[in-house]
Amino acid sequence: MTEQQNNNAGGKAWSGRFSEPVSDLVKRYTASVYFDKRLALHDIRGSLAHARMLAKQQIINAQDLADIERGMTQIEAEITAGTFAWNLDDEDVHLNIEKRLTALVGDAGKRLHTGRSRNDQVATDIRLWLRDAITDIDALLRNYILALLDLAEQHAATPMPGFTHLQVAQPVTFGHHLLAYVEMAKRDRERMADCRKRVSRLPLGSAALAGTTFPIDRAYVAQQLEFEAVCENSLDAVSDRDFAIEFSAAAALVMVHVSRFSEELISWMSPRIGFIDIADRFCTGSSIMPQKKNPDVPELARGKSGRVFGNLMGLLTLMKGQPLAYNKDNQEDKEPLFDTVDTLTDTLRIFADMATGITVKPEAMASALKQGFATATDLADYLVKKGLPFRDAHEAVALAVRSAEKKGCDLANLSLQDLQTFSPLIDKDVFAVLTVEGSLAARNHIGGTAPAQVRAAIQRARASL
Ligand code: ARG
Repeated sequence: MTEQQNNNAGGKAWSGRFSEPVSDLVKRYTASVYFDKRLALHDIRGSLAHARMLAKQQIINAQDLADIERGMTQIEAEITAGTFAWNLDDEDVHLNIEKRLTALVGDAGKRLHTGRSRNDQVATDIRLWLRDAITDIDALLRNYILALLDLAEQHAATPMPGFTHLQVAQPVTFGHHLLAYVEMAKRDRERMADCRKRVSRLPLGSAALAGTTFPIDRAYVAQQLEFEAVCENSLDAVSDRDFAIEFSAAAALVMVHVSRFSEELISWMSPRIGFIDIADRFCTGSSIMPQKKNPDVPELARGKSGRVFGNLMGLLTLMKGQPLAYNKDNQEDKEPLFDTVDTLTDTLRIFADMATGITVKPEAMASALKQGFATATDLADYLVKKGLPFRDAHEAVALAVRSAEKKGCDLANLSLQDLQTFSPLIDKDVFAVLTVEGSLAARNHIGGTAPAQVRAAIQRARASL
């Protein structure tokens, strides 16, 4: 044993200057390998790009590079096969892999860390990992949109009550209603794509915080890793996690949208409303009430939005008090990020499937529509078209609604004579606008609920995918 090894407290990669080893509790407290091993394949990818750059710049020789590549090929195989021996003593994914590499190939493994620090290494790994996660999430959002579009297409002309304040407001089609969620998901994709650009920047080369004295070629590393650019300031590159926060915010909005949809699915499925049924495979029964079929999946999705918002809050709080540059606080960035990606991935996968398992009950929607004077605005518009100022039309229709309410009938059930007591401008052509179909067809412009417009919007959405 050399004197240096003798003094090494705990044999860690950094423990040369320490006089006593950390306690088991501190070791467990400071270690991250049990969760950051998830970054392993991206860590290897980053290391190989770094090693190739070192060889190209003649900072290590060709033999070293060949050894590193050979060692990493084996390590990757071990990790994929599940035979890699992860060791808490080696703290994190980076040191575990480096130690194994050195065991396999000797000195070349020890040269890999030249011109690099775990600080720029971990920032690179997370960015590589998150970029792949965003690619997957984008594909899942696309599938979810496709499923909504299929359902919307079947119901482009199916009338349902549109609500404001949870009260029947005006007729819409079920397809139109679903297209609202398509728009939300389309914006979610835009946000993900935009965030991806800023994730896709290379921290490597920043080393611990100030850059490195070796003649590195950062652009070459960026090109190998398909980053769009290099991070321009070394202090910023190793320390900020705004890209992860930005992703978490975009993810939180996805969950807001999914949660709103869930809320609707749950109430639509309630027997008191009964607009839809959700396929049995997304529901569960009650252990005590035999009659129950509960919409567990949408309820859970609504609930899981909470953890995604919490993860966002956690990351914001993690970042806000940190001085430049790297601080160990940042090790806490991974679990919330992983959890958000997992939650989003599962939720979107399930929702795309669930949308195809929705059975619509048009009769229930139609009968709800009859209960709320849904065509009152159409009557007001009719009077305006006959020359009455809108405010006066509004007043006349309000009185008509009051009278129909007293009689316990819909506006369309009032006689022409009755209707004319509210305005002499009303004629027998009024009944065309008081029907649901007339009301729907009249809203015939981009963004409107006319079935023709709904079909056109579906076509545009499909083309944009
Ligand atoms: N496991 C660490 C992390 O996740 C890697 C970086 C460690 N750097 C350091 N200076 N201790 O942030």
